[in-house]
Amino acid sequence: MLQNHTILITGAGSGLGLGIAKYCKAQGAQVIVTDIDQDKLQLIASAFDEQDLLLRCDVTQIADLYACKSAIQAKYSKLDAVIGAQGIFDGNLPIQSMTAEHLDQLFDEMFHVNVKGYLLTAHIFASLLKASNGALVFTTSTAAYAADGGGAVYTATKGAIRSLIQQLAFEFAPEIRVNGVAPAAIGNSQLKGPKALNLDHQKQSDIPKDAFLNLFQSISLLQDLPDAEDYGAIYAFLASQHNKVMTGQTIVADQGLLNRAVLTQAH
Ligand SMILES: NC(=O)c1ccc[n+]([C@@H]2O[C@H](COP(=O)([O-])OP(=O)(O)OC[C@H]3O[C@@H](n4cnc5c(N)ncnc54)[C@H](O)[C@@H]3O)[C@@H](O)[C@H]2O)c1
Repeated sequence: MLQNHTILITGAGSGLGLGIAKYCKAQGAQVIVTDIDQDKLQLIASAFDEQDLLLRCDVTQIADLYACKSAIQAKYSKLDAVIGAQGIFDGNLPIQSMTAEHLDQLFDEMFHVNVKGYLLTAHIFASLLKASNGALVFTTSTAAYAADGGGAVYTATKGAIRSLIQQLAFEFAPEIRVNGVAPAAIGNSQLKGPKALNLDHQKQSDIPKDAFLNLFQSISLLQDLPDAEDYGAIYAFLASQHNKVMTGQTIVADQGLLNRAVLTQAH
């Protein structure tokens, strides 16, 4: 699927982004794996080789993104796709459970990473993607489609990404295809809470996998809790030159969660 493709994945130190990076590599791509967390990059380095590039990059920092762009230009002749996978989570907390000051800080922190990070990345890499008739692939969530997929602020960030996919597809047409994926749950995610709520030490992977699996089995049609790599094929297709037919769309990859039965109880 991805022979001769060079693909940048942001927020790829763990979870979804790492799974996508491994999948893209297995499909023949050269991958640029970036994350804010240098320790994670060191831990995963053995999964990649000299054809690839592992770089620390905070997507909220313009200087980091330009440094990443320069490193890509120095090593490769082109960039075919940028896949955005970074994110932080608000722990599903209702806004009434926090002070107005916490909400204020939470909003800024979450929107910086979950929305501004995607916008800046799109802005800075657009010239390379235009030159290759490339693709942008963003990560939203089922939280953008139904209540209780997160708290109000997380949900708002994911709704913003869903809208940005449509707007940027319009702005970047016809050279760049812009699409997104809305996952429901990821088994090996390390999704962290925000500093604003003192939850940055808590990870989704702290929830026992069995408990998460049981919950997901009880509410989704396909009754499985996918691992990050299971999402790889969708991202790989949207990032590839094989996609000549889709732009401005989000694929809801939710194991049938949103289409669950209204009247009949799940098995
Ligand atoms: N885990 C789920 O169930 C789930 C469901 C739907 C959508 N998502 C979305 O999937 C994406 C990936 O999440 P995940 O579950 O794999 O979590 P994860 O924490 O394992 O991966 C996210 C990565 O983003 C990195 N990151 C955070 N801030 C960054 C920044 N400023 N710059 C660069 N990198 C940064 C983290 O260090 C981490 O490695 C997120 O956008 C998340 O909202 C997750």
